[in-house]
Amino acid sequence: MAIIQVSNLKKSFGRLDVLKQITFNVNKNDVVAVIGPSGSGKSTMLRSLVHLEQIDAGSICVSGEYLVKEGIYPKLQDIKQITAKMGMVFQHFNLFPHLTVQENLEIAPRLVKKESASGTRQRSTELLEKIGLANKAKAYPANLSGGQKQRVAIARALMMNPEILLFDEPTSALDPELTGEVLQVMKDLAEEHMTMIVVTHEMGFAQEVANQVIFMDDGEIIESGHPSEIFTKPRFERTKAFLNRSLK
Ligand SMILES: Nc1ncnc2c1ncn2[C@@H]1O[C@H](COP(=O)(O)OP(=O)(O)O)[C@@H](O)[C@H]1O
Ligand SMILES: [Mg+2]
Repeated sequence: MAIIQVSNLKKSFGRLDVLKQITFNVNKNDVVAVIGPSGSGKSTMLRSLVHLEQIDAGSICVSGEYLVKEGIYPKLQDIKQITAKMGMVFQHFNLFPHLTVQENLEIAPRLVKKESASGTRQRSTELLEKIGLANKAKAYPANLSGGQKQRVAIARALMMNPEILLFDEPTSALDPELTGEVLQVMKDLAEEHMTMIVVTHEMGFAQEVANQVIFMDDGEIIESGHPSEIFTKPRFERTKAFLNRSLK
């Protein structure tokens, strides 16, 4: 069953057509890897799904509700309710520097969802355990490694109980030796059947964990399919050329 349906999505910044005619579906429990060269529109596409960008035309439907239908958005309250089904993890973590790790996890459920202190404390404690950072509950982000910060950012997204998690190059800002611990948390989530869309340069992760790969270039989806197809028998020259560069 499709949990996300994107059809004929278009987006321009001024005269620059950044997304030209984007159509794809994500099924529940899918792990979708989005790959493609820098500037191809991957971030803009992901940001459109959570309404960090407003699209110009097309439709985005999330578990049966339209975030935007043929270019028309519903009222803000409906937009908020639909985007709340999704959590987003950014390249640069975006943790609150003046809050402890545990406070970073708890602030949104407390303020946005008005959840009780005891309920959020219990869940944040469990999630810190799960990502292996129980001993960092009272630490501040400045005293964590990049890999630890990103694991906290993932836990923070999970605190809101999203149906879908979106990742925009979650390991690209990390030293190579720290990417493994973040990818492991994402793999664990995949094994628990979390629905995820991951923009990534980690071809190993895409090959091993994703069940759908979308290759974007110049604002278009050039091809998509199972990693066994895309990585071993890409149909288009542009895909071949990109993979040749990336898999070196
Ligand atoms: N806010 C913006 N204003 C103008 N141009 C933008 C903006 N955001 C992105 N772009 C341009 O849109 C294109 C696609 O960017 P992006 O979605 O970030 O690609 P990717 O994530 O694949 O690297 C690039 O040419 C980029 O410069
Ligand atoms: Mg990007």
